[in-house]
Amino acid sequence: MLRNPGARSFVFVILALYCAAGYAQGKGEETYKAHCQSCHGSSGMADTGPGRVTKTLPVTAPELKSRTLAEMINYTRDGKDRMRGFEGKLTDEEIKASVMYFRSLIR
Ligand code: HEC
Repeated sequence: MLRNPGARSFVFVILALYCAAGYAQGKGEETYKAHCQSCHGSSGMADTGPGRVTKTLPVTAPELKSRTLAEMINYTRDGKDRMRGFEGKLTDEEIKASVMYFRSLIR
């Protein structure tokens, strides 16, 4: 089956995509744990001391479901309510990856 060069590059592309996705997921999770979890909580429920003090919304809040990825990236970069923006503290890539991880917790 792999004698056909087309099939070989197809397999390669799938593998490369798979690794890239895994990398983004790992980075998002890592950044989230280091910079976001203290308020947003490990499962996104904001069930932490700072989460309660800052009135962070849990991932079950209906308003979170209606937000787009771009809106959430802007909030995280510029700040929202009692959350200070992460501009200058995290790279755009880290902000995006951690927001994507946060969004994966929404239910
Ligand atoms: C000091 C506590 C704190 C930290 C740390 C924190 N947040 Fe927040 N976050 C908040 C608060 C408070 C809000 C505003 C209330 C809300 O929307 O949950 C908020 C809002 C948000 C929102 C908007 C949710 C919405 O209303 O649509 C996103 C997205 C978000 N945070 C992601 C992150 C990410 C990603 C990180 C880490 C890079 C992070 N937060 C770190 C407290 C925090």
